[in-house]
Amino acid sequence: MQMMIPSGVNVLSFLREKGVFVPAHCGGAGACGKCVIKVIAGSLPPSECDKRLLSRQSIVSGARLACKAFTASPVRIEINDASAFNTPDIKWEQPDKSHTFGLAADIGTTTIAVSLVDITAKRSIRTVSAANAQGSFGADVITRIGAALSGEKAALRKAVTKSLADAVGRLDCASLELTKMTIAANTAMYHMLLGLDCTGIAKAPFEPATLGGEQVSLQALINDSAAPDIPVTLVRGISPFVGGDITSGLACTQLADNTLLLDLGTNGEAVLFSEGRFICSSAAAGPALEGGELSCGMGGVNGAVCRVYEHDGRLRFDTIGSAPPLGLCGSGAVDLLACCIDKGYVDKQGVFLDSYFENGFELASGVTLTQQDIRELQLAKAAIRACVDTLISHAGKKYEDISQLIIAGGFGHFLDIQSACKIGLIPNALKCKARAVGNTSLKGAERSLYDERFFGRLDDIISRAETVELSSDEGFKARFIENIGF
Ligand code: FES
Repeated sequence: MQMMIPSGVNVLSFLREKGVFVPAHCGGAGACGKCVIKVIAGSLPPSECDKRLLSRQSIVSGARLACKAFTASPVRIEINDASAFNTPDIKWEQPDKSHTFGLAADIGTTTIAVSLVDITAKRSIRTVSAANAQGSFGADVITRIGAALSGEKAALRKAVTKSLADAVGRLDCASLELTKMTIAANTAMYHMLLGLDCTGIAKAPFEPATLGGEQVSLQALINDSAAPDIPVTLVRGISPFVGGDITSGLACTQLADNTLLLDLGTNGEAVLFSEGRFICSSAAAGPALEGGELSCGMGGVNGAVCRVYEHDGRLRFDTIGSAPPLGLCGSGAVDLLACCIDKGYVDKQGVFLDSYFENGFELASGVTLTQQDIRELQLAKAAIRACVDTLISHAGKKYEDISQLIIAGGFGHFLDIQSACKIGLIPNALKCKARAVGNTSLKGAERSLYDERFFGRLDDIISRAETVELSSDEGFKARFIENIGF
């Protein structure tokens, strides 16, 4: 895609204003190197950040970081990263037009998934996903909250509603009888979706403006009078850090006593259902497990390496959509790290052998795991593992008491349990009890449309929820340090 950029503007800000959202993981700090555009015509001298983060060759061919590009005269640019927002359809069936339909959405920090649900038949028939365009304001929730508090609240709302509207449009359901919609998301995402003030979720004592539960109209939500005129319910969450995406998953999952549900994303949320209580906690894992903050990281979209394995002594890989490899999504990064540990390229402290220390391990052209990537993955997995261990300890249980470990989240769908155990994300003792169930947040939202007991179950879960605050838990820090290595 090409665009003319007028003089006197910052390129990233101009693109955001025009509703063109390029990935910008660090939120415009000039640190991540993700917001690359290419100058096709006109003059745009390279910035200091360009010289630091981009190769000489790419600068000569016109590459610039949009966040540090300020135009002194009009320039024509090419946005070469359309693929980052290009995701495959997950499910696609023809609808029975005599039936009634609804929409369900999971709005994640990285990815949005939307389903068309046949309410009469009680099942989802189409699902599409798209990158959350808020990625143009930072890969993680904290950076985005910072952007919202710095005057970008309206732009953040526009980005997420545009992604949602685009995904709904791709479902091609205008001719069907749509009656309602359910959205499940984390608490921060509800704030940004509704355009609410984020001050209360920015710092302690964390007083959110909403935990969900509202009903709004889809037309008002996405500011489009041509959209289906249906009511939208936001699934209510438990706390600022255990949101409607988690309760949605819980309300649609069969839970035996001592079931541990782990939702892996930018935040690792864990809920232990034990003796009638829902004991919840959340660890800030950072975006590494969703591909963010990795040198070649990307969301779970076409071209992302999602699986790495050894065959005939060589490392092989699969990509989403079977497209040429563009980078690593979370599951690919976990697999690649596990393979590197297996092959002895990485030691127990997480340090690469000398031969890979400087430039990292290159899996494919342009897809490399670096020493810094390993550090990011270590921090993420240690936070989640310490959260799980703390929760089990808080409930007075041991690994052997846990009846099943359910791994939820879009990332969890691709996650290889062996690799997760190898890097220490999941305790070895739970390996045989673990199963990845995919996006339970979306499944719950789908179910809410045809199961009239769904919202009753949700209320029951919320009334029996207890939250463990990790920042004040004495054992958490020690467990975090304990779990940094491999
Ligand atoms: S370097 Fe531009 S957004 Fe990170």
